[in-house]
Amino acid sequence: SYQSAQPFPFEKSPSAVAAAEREALLRNPGFGRVFTDHMVTMRYSQEHGWHDGKIGPRGAFPLDPATLVLHYGQEIFEGMKAYRLPDGGASLFRPDANARRFRSSAERLAMAPLPEELFLQSVRALVRTERDWIPAAEGASLYIRPFMFATEVLLGVKPSAEYLYCIIASPVGSYFKSGAPAVTLWVSETYTRAAPGGTGAAKCGGNYAASLAAQAEATAEGCEQVVFLDAVERRWVEELGGMNVFFVFDDGSLQTPPLGGTILPGITRDSLIVLARDLGLTVREEPYAIDQWQADARSGRLTEAFACGTAAVVTPIGTVKGRRHGFTIGEGGAGPVAARLKAALLDIQNGRAPDRHGWLDRL
Ligand code: PLP
Ligand code: COI
Repeated sequence: SYQSAQPFPFEKSPSAVAAAEREALLRNPGFGRVFTDHMVTMRYSQEHGWHDGKIGPRGAFPLDPATLVLHYGQEIFEGMKAYRLPDGGASLFRPDANARRFRSSAERLAMAPLPEELFLQSVRALVRTERDWIPAAEGASLYIRPFMFATEVLLGVKPSAEYLYCIIASPVGSYFKSGAPAVTLWVSETYTRAAPGGTGAAKCGGNYAASLAAQAEATAEGCEQVVFLDAVERRWVEELGGMNVFFVFDDGSLQTPPLGGTILPGITRDSLIVLARDLGLTVREEPYAIDQWQADARSGRLTEAFACGTAAVVTPIGTVKGRRHGFTIGEGGAGPVAARLKAALLDIQNGRAPDRHGWLDRL
């Protein structure tokens, strides 16, 4: 029930950052540390539906201490990137898929779903406003973070009657500190990420809050990411703390865990399945056991493994450690299949290769 002749009107505000300073920040942005000048906000209430959508200066929210999200965690988010094109323009990659996933996350968290068209309009409007913040360097992009949370002031445990939707943007380089050709994983035996019937397939803050103790254990063990096993048998590889996972075998085939409601349906995962099949490779969406992974890595039947996601793009996995496991994949570095798929994906996202699947949204 959104009514506005001009959705997301632009509230002109001076940049907090001078052009020269911005250029310096864009040269080495890291991940999620630098933010652009503006944000989208839009409110939902049962009485008015979605309303008051606008782009204004980025700033703090005043929150009543009894705001529902602070107590029961009713919050969802998305992660996507805007890319610089060779002609100086900008693109988004499959934003319709993020809009769909945001709606299904909202439904799982019993939140007011945001119409997909409003999600798309708001993301495009912010990227157009912040186009000077899209880095031009290879591998860099403008990370877009739409999110929504419960704003009703109440301590009753029930779905909020009011929500705030917001989008912020952050120029980013690679997620992992550059230098290492591959990351090391820690197999979590203590913790699981999501159980059948839970929120594993939704992109909600609570999933990440629940993963932090496992991630801290991984960090303490000298590993970059945690790999979660299924909650029922503690046997099947599900995904990493913030990315999906693929396995590559010596017959050239690929395998990735199936979407069964406990892992996030990654848009990168889906795109790589399509691109791998375009390259003539066989891809199976089938469960893979952690013990099998170790046996296959040791025998050489497994030649590569890699993580994938918006933030991680395609990141080779070199070593896997755990209380009951320890093995190195191939030579412990980047493999050719991961490199080929990463190049194919980045070439489409950056407008260097033909967009055969209609994935690019040019702005
Ligand atoms: N799995 C988890 C837990 C994630 O946080 C992400 C990142 O968004 C992914 C997988 C990959 O999803 P996508 O490729 O849509 O970014
Ligand atoms: C993303 O890739 O967008 C994520 O949300 C993952 C997170 C590790 C930043």
